[in-house]
Amino acid sequence: MEVSQLSDTGLFEGLSAQDIIAMAGHAVPRDYPRNTIVLRQGEPPHSLYIVLSGKVKVYVNGKDGKELVLGTLGPNGYFGEMALIDDSPRSANVRTTTESKIAVVSKANFMKCVGRNPEIAMNLLRTLAQRVRELNDTVESLALHSVEDRVSRLLKRLATEKDGKLVTDQITQQELANMVGASREMVSRVINAMKTRGVIEVSGKAITLNEDMLAAH
Ligand code: CMP
Repeated sequence: MEVSQLSDTGLFEGLSAQDIIAMAGHAVPRDYPRNTIVLRQGEPPHSLYIVLSGKVKVYVNGKDGKELVLGTLGPNGYFGEMALIDDSPRSANVRTTTESKIAVVSKANFMKCVGRNPEIAMNLLRTLAQRVRELNDTVESLALHSVEDRVSRLLKRLATEKDGKLVTDQITQQELANMVGASREMVSRVINAMKTRGVIEVSGKAITLNEDMLAAH
């Protein structure tokens, strides 16, 4: 596969062009339709995955089928490294949320590359540290903040600037609920209360954040 497709992932930061070329020789690009489960929690690991285009979400399911989203990854993000590192079953499920192209590297080839390039091990450690930081935020949020605070923090994280306003991409209340660990009904009540207070505007599945909300927290 094309070397340029892999050179921007943080996983290979610090590697020489030659080493990235060698790595590219082991990576197989695959197309995944939207909503495809790429790996399942509990399965034995066989590969590492690098997102070339599209988006995936990492999530776990409760016994009642409820979903908690642990993170999302876009182009140049990678996943499936944890079970390769500790030789244990997959720690979470990963599903595409848009059509995606993902490079797949077999466990054996990846381990060979890590052995030859210690920089990869350092890059993996950096990613793991970032994930622990994000998890600390999530745990703090779940344990110490109200559902409204959690929704408010999440909306600020998801929103991007459009025509001078901060607006989220299309997102359903069920998806918001899965990301803050609350029921859809609760999130719906919170969104309605925020709408009534004028801190957000809702138009279809997009949410615009008003200045009062940005000033809070
Ligand atoms: P692995 O355990 O092999 O399979 C599931 C993958 O999801 C895992 O590797 C990581 O790549 C990713 N993952 C697990 N937990 C998190 C998290 N809290 N945040 C982001 N990604 C995660």
